Amino acid sequence: MTIDVPEEHLLGQFIPLHYHFNMLRDQQRMAPFREAIDLTVPDNGVVLELGGGTGVLSWFAAQKARDVYCVERNPALARAAQSFLANNSNGDRVSVILADAMNYLPPEPVDVVICEMLHVGMVREKQLQVLHSFKERYRQRFGPLMPRFIPDTSVLAIQPIQQDFCFSGYTASVPLFEPPGPHMKDSWLADPFFYSTIDYGAEIPLAFRVATEMTIKSDGLFNAVSLLTNNFLAFVLTEKRAVTWLMNQLVLPIHKPFAVRAGDTVSVSFEYQAGGSIEALQESLVARPETRSAAVSDHTSLRRAA
Ligand SMILES: C[S@@+](CC[C@H](N)C(=O)[O-])C[C@H]1O[C@@H](n2cnc3c(N)ncnc32)[C@H](O)[C@@H]1O
Repeated sequence: MTIDVPEEHLLGQFIPLHYHFNMLRDQQRMAPFREAIDLTVPDNGVVLELGGGTGVLSWFAAQKARDVYCVERNPALARAAQSFLANNSNGDRVSVILADAMNYLPPEPVDVVICEMLHVGMVREKQLQVLHSFKERYRQRFGPLMPRFIPDTSVLAIQPIQQDFCFSGYTASVPLFEPPGPHMKDSWLADPFFYSTIDYGAEIPLAFRVATEMTIKSDGLFNAVSLLTNNFLAFVLTEKRAVTWLMNQLVLPIHKPFAVRAGDTVSVSFEYQAGGSIEALQESLVARPETRSAAVSDHTSLRRAA
């Protein structure tokens, strides 16, 4: 049995107001956006935000900009943003526009475009479609000079891992989201493979097709992959650093788990559309053992000889 839900009702396209609380209080996200916006928006500049939600990023921009166009297509959120902005200093510099970012163009050229329709791996949300379409239409109306984009660049990677899918004694191989970082170290089986670097100022990809081989670094059970996305919100060249937001990783179980030893080679392939479903990506995911490490082969031949 399948239940057909219109795409715009799926979480990722439709984000209810109560879910925005999670985003508003997430300092790992808010702090780098605030810093990147402050570094990128010129004094008295003009800013466009695509997918404004509660209006918070537009409000950051309004502390420096002359005008901010904040585009949101969910009427409840557009209303909420309007009322929040009215209660925050310089909120009157933000015009909330109820519109679909896939069609909207501002009435004048802008210095900066902010777009946070980001999802790990660029699945579910339409960040890439929206910015791809925006750039084409903006070029036609205002000419070739593009605004700066926040984020500036997003980098996507995949990593073979051993994931514990046991919950209160119940084993269920479900996709899950977790903060990445050193606490995950015991589960890493190989280094991440970087499969796409999206430079928002250049050609924006709308699909990903990956087939790669990876060398296993630690023994374990290869039963999942982790998708990683790091967003470079702004580069601070004078200080030789970047303002980044490393998103929660998406852990996806693979169809046929298998044991690996350090030195083995495994192949991993998958393909998906930007903004597509997690299920479609998972369906395409194939992970296989390719070559066994020399240590294992020697061991095997020794055992045979004995
Ligand atoms: C991840 S939220 C980010 C909200 C806000 N910018 C923030 O950072 O807190 C993405 C927002 O984009 C809106 N959105 C999604 N698709 C859109 C579209 N095609 N046009 C306008 N808004 C859209 C959603 O309703 C949601 O409010």
